Amino acid sequence: MKDFAGKIAVITGGGTGMGRELARQLVAEGCNVAMCDVSAENMAETKRLCEVEKLPQGLRVTTHVADVSIEDQLKRFRDELVEQQKTDKIHLLFNNAGIGGGGSIITSTREQWERTFNICWGGVYYGVRTFLPLLLKADEAHIVNTSSVNGFWASIGMGSPHTAYSAAKFAVKGFTEALINDLRLNAPHVKCSVVMPGHIGTSIVSNSRKVMNGSDRLSPNELLQARQRMKLAGVPVETMTDAEIEQRALDRARTFLEEAPTTAAQAAKIILDGVKAERWRILVGDDAHKLDARVRQAPDEAYSPQFYESFVKEAGWKVG
Ligand SMILES: NC(=O)c1ccc[n+]([C@@H]2O[C@H](COP(=O)([O-])OP(=O)(O)OC[C@H]3O[C@@H](n4cnc5c(N)ncnc54)[C@H](O)[C@@H]3O)[C@@H](O)[C@H]2O)c1
Repeated sequence: MKDFAGKIAVITGGGTGMGRELARQLVAEGCNVAMCDVSAENMAETKRLCEVEKLPQGLRVTTHVADVSIEDQLKRFRDELVEQQKTDKIHLLFNNAGIGGGGSIITSTREQWERTFNICWGGVYYGVRTFLPLLLKADEAHIVNTSSVNGFWASIGMGSPHTAYSAAKFAVKGFTEALINDLRLNAPHVKCSVVMPGHIGTSIVSNSRKVMNGSDRLSPNELLQARQRMKLAGVPVETMTDAEIEQRALDRARTFLEEAPTTAAQAAKIILDGVKAERWRILVGDDAHKLDARVRQAPDEAYSPQFYESFVKEAGWKVG
């Protein structure tokens, strides 16, 4: 798809971060956008930002509250879109919504683990199932599924287990790669891409807590895990109160946003350029490219402390 003007795009998780920036850049190119999120307030802000520049005559930006892990809510989103965008087709589907959390199969609760997995994997699967009929009706269409570097490297550093997110992101990558041939055989006018961002400056750390716990406060279980993680990293946690541990975790969410090597706007531009170039694999950020090369070069070493330390040094990573 060489240009987006006059097309209709669906974006999941359009409330903040990369979803918001995708919406803004698509609208700036004359594309209609229908987004969903669990936060109506954040989507209203995205819509406002899209409309800051005067929208071309007739261009539509619609917002729909829907949880991507619940198929019926996505179906409701689709039905609202058909009505409000007055269409029976869409051209672009960005399955972007995601959260972190539920890192350990041993110490996280089953509920936390499955919440992360069901949003990060289920959201992509239900997204494709729900919107495929509308994509098939377009002259040309493109499905863009957001995985992560955790779709080819299942770790976030030596001190933090990362099982639910990694399992989901590997699933997104495998599914999207297999879709290439399914589409080629059965719907050649539809293309697909898997997006694998490195560290991007967004509020995903605090948003994930909001989705998981209903606020950006840490649950008692997360406090315990944060304490253990900090202890492993050499922080003198014995003398720290829970409030101090929580403050550190909140600071970490802020630095994740502010000290990332790539901004959400830069990431959205890389993703949209990748779609225009019809690239099926879109790595986002120098850190993602470096990690991809390293994992291919030395797969047996990928989960050793030396691999991680040497990568962190090269990429300047402050994650994990
Ligand atoms: N930020 C990074 O470093 C990074 C790296 C690799 C991959 N990713 C992936 O990129 C995607 C976008 O993340 P981001 O960093 O922009 O984070 P973000 O938190 O800014 O944006 C994600 C959006 O998804 C929404 N959301 C969460 N759960 C939802 C649900 N069940 N239904 C509907 N909406 C939901 C959130 O409210 C939020 O608005 C995610 O899939 C994430 O896993 C992010």
